[in-house]
Amino acid sequence: MERLVVEGGRPLEGAVRISGAKNAALPLLAACLLTDETCVLRNVPDLQDVRTLRKILAHVGLATFQRGLNAFELTVEEPGRCVAPYGLVSQMRASIYLLGPLVAKRGYAEVALPGGCVIGHRPVDLHLRGLEALGADLALENGTIIARAPGGLRGAEMDLSGPCGSSVGATANVVMAACLAEGQTVIHGAAREPDVTELIRFLQAMGARIEGSGSSTLRITGVPALGGAEQSVMPDRIEAATYAMAAALTGGDVLLEEVDLAHMGAVVEVLARAGVELSEDAPGAVRVRRGERLRAVKVSTTPYPGFPTDVQAQLLALLTQAKGTSVVRETIYPDRFMHVAELARMGAEIRKVGPTAVIQGPRPLSGAEVKATDLRAGAALVMAGLAAEGTTVVHDIHHIDRGYERIEDKLRGLGAAIYRETPSQTLRRAA
Ligand code: EPZ
Repeated sequence: MERLVVEGGRPLEGAVRISGAKNAALPLLAACLLTDETCVLRNVPDLQDVRTLRKILAHVGLATFQRGLNAFELTVEEPGRCVAPYGLVSQMRASIYLLGPLVAKRGYAEVALPGGCVIGHRPVDLHLRGLEALGADLALENGTIIARAPGGLRGAEMDLSGPCGSSVGATANVVMAACLAEGQTVIHGAAREPDVTELIRFLQAMGARIEGSGSSTLRITGVPALGGAEQSVMPDRIEAATYAMAAALTGGDVLLEEVDLAHMGAVVEVLARAGVELSEDAPGAVRVRRGERLRAVKVSTTPYPGFPTDVQAQLLALLTQAKGTSVVRETIYPDRFMHVAELARMGAEIRKVGPTAVIQGPRPLSGAEVKATDLRAGAALVMAGLAAEGTTVVHDIHHIDRGYERIEDKLRGLGAAIYRETPSQTLRRAA
């Protein structure tokens, strides 16, 4: 298995271009199932999750043609294929996004129930509740969700609030299905993440009638058919937050290019409290500056516009160098702390108390062999390696490749000493 080898101690300097958002691109790709016409998506990040979803979409008859770097033309060529296989679905939970579009457009879908995930229990009950409210007949047979709506879907009023307030995936899935349902659908407790508002923008460009974008109440009036559309994927606010924290952690000075600061929500405010200033030097260009020392903060992860759970691991890495006691409470995935033990192996002093991490800082970090347990944890370990004394080897980096485009190239472009090592190179290094 490949590894990332990081020599710590160098401040990150320079400019880095932020890629298109993974969590926006995935539902946009699935939305192309809703039309018989051709769609074009640009600024699609070159990630493992995107490659996996393209394979799954091919299984259900949606052909994707590369049209230049990060751009795809998508056309449904075989509408009769409606089965998303476990082998691919188990690699990526976002496969559940096929359910809504397929059952709405074709009246039938078979999608394997996504597998488990190290960040915690990830049910899909809200997805199923919403689709059933629209009249889909759902059955679970041999680990596969079978959705039927031979007579089409009908609009309904529903509440998709979950245990944490809202669900990004369930909102996206049900909104896509409701676009082709007969009549009016009202969704209460809808997620407000930019990934959802960008999906709504794309659906509207396809001819969907949706009101309330950005709010927690969406009103969708179904239409008989949707047309093709073109859209560029918005910049990845989670990747931007990751590089901003890496810059701050290494005491560097970095310009993030093609960033939408408005999408970064509470990250800007929390970083300011920690002594890290994000300022828009030019449209779409955000400079990251850090004061003399980092300050401890207390923060809870919440749905947008709160502090994102997808930046929690990276924040913990940053706070290992903040003076004082920091407290980070995880309200979305209470078990999303597999990275704590790995950071501790590098010298961090972090105590997990239920769904809360208590970090004492600053503590010097030393290089170590660590392993990525999920994509954001992996990014946090790379960050820690950048700030550590000596060499850090990050294993299981396939997790990182799911959500970060060419992470070692981008970091090397900022002056980091990091490279990807193949197993044979590992043997030579060990010799
Ligand atoms: C999306 O996952 C993101 N993934 C996740 O990013 C992100 O962590 C999450 O939203 C929260 O922001 C993609 O967009 C592909 P949810 P999703 O439905 O849609 C509970 C990353 O690092 N819930 O908003 O699956 C759930 O257990 C990934 O890029 C139900 O109870 O998340 C969680 O506690 C990791 N029933 C909360 O809601 C359901 O049917 C929020 O989950 C669905 C969710």
